[in-house]
Amino acid sequence: MSDLSKLETELLSSIANAADEAGLEEVRIGSLGKKGSVSALLATLGKMSPDERKTAGAAINALKDVVTTALGERRSVLKDASLNARLASEFVDVTLPVRESGVESGRVHPISQVMDELTAIFADLGFSIAEGPDIESDDTNFTKLNFPLGHPAREMHDTFFFQPDENGERKLLRTHTSPVQVRTMMSQTPPIRVICPGRTYRCDSDQTHTPMFHQVEGLVIDKNANLGHLKWVLEESCKAFFEVPHVKMRFRPSFFPFTEPSMEVDIQCSRKNGEIRFGEGDDWLEILGCGMVHPNVLRNCGVDPDVYQGFAWGMGIDRIAMLKYGMADLRPFFEADVRWLNHYGFRPLDLPTLAGGLSA
Ligand code: DAH
Repeated sequence: MSDLSKLETELLSSIANAADEAGLEEVRIGSLGKKGSVSALLATLGKMSPDERKTAGAAINALKDVVTTALGERRSVLKDASLNARLASEFVDVTLPVRESGVESGRVHPISQVMDELTAIFADLGFSIAEGPDIESDDTNFTKLNFPLGHPAREMHDTFFFQPDENGERKLLRTHTSPVQVRTMMSQTPPIRVICPGRTYRCDSDQTHTPMFHQVEGLVIDKNANLGHLKWVLEESCKAFFEVPHVKMRFRPSFFPFTEPSMEVDIQCSRKNGEIRFGEGDDWLEILGCGMVHPNVLRNCGVDPDVYQGFAWGMGIDRIAMLKYGMADLRPFFEADVRWLNHYGFRPLDLPTLAGGLSA
């Protein structure tokens, strides 16, 4: 066997045995590459006589062609094989059931749900949302709201105070959402219709009190906003919130420094087997405080009490969430227990709307 045909047999067998494209590339470099065996043979042509070159040249070029063709064919076989292997390994069974995405399995906390429900209800009544900071000054949390200095009502709020700052001012964690009333009146011109949901803080902890809790405040300021309007707004919003056709409310005289007159509101309910129902029964349940905004508060916030008047109310969000959704204990609201949240939470894409149902 001549050297050429021996080399051809060797190369063709290496090509046939190349297991993958990288192995095949090695064979190509070893034969047709700059320093490859076939290229080395081609380089010998220059030293040959013209006659020798004629026959040897044709034979070496024929070898080169054979090797090139074999490389090309083997490459396409290996390419197909690797594509088939990928297709087999990346196989997706489209008949499998869809796995729940995070959006499906996550749950909205009942507090967020109730805030969204209140937003839907009061947006429908023409109210906008107002917000304020959790850290307040004594001035906005108490003084502008007509709490006299040293008045016992300040103590009743079990306030969390910060250490005095460099100016000697003691900031505090707001004890109610009423300072948002102050901020709203100071920054907007009447007519004003806002609700202010948010976090509030008092140094208190038992089955129905947590140091951080939530309130929603309502404020309406206009030339003729009166108690009749207040009663109507409270009745309509309670019916919508508890999703009942009727509620009966009882207004009892009370005291808040920032309202005059001040009232506490009870709604009629029945209590059977520990379950509270609204719109029926002969029991009463206190749900909120309200009143006509005190002229001193209007004046403190730059609103002329001879031109404008208004009403306000404040309500515990955690409490109405417990009443509506039947939780007996407030503390798990803040324990971040995913089992509790899976049980009491709401599906994230079921946004509460009046048309679609608040808690459907
Ligand atoms: N801020 C009161 C509280 O936390 C609740 C309240 C009562 C708010 C009467 C009001 C109101 O706006 O008019 O106890």
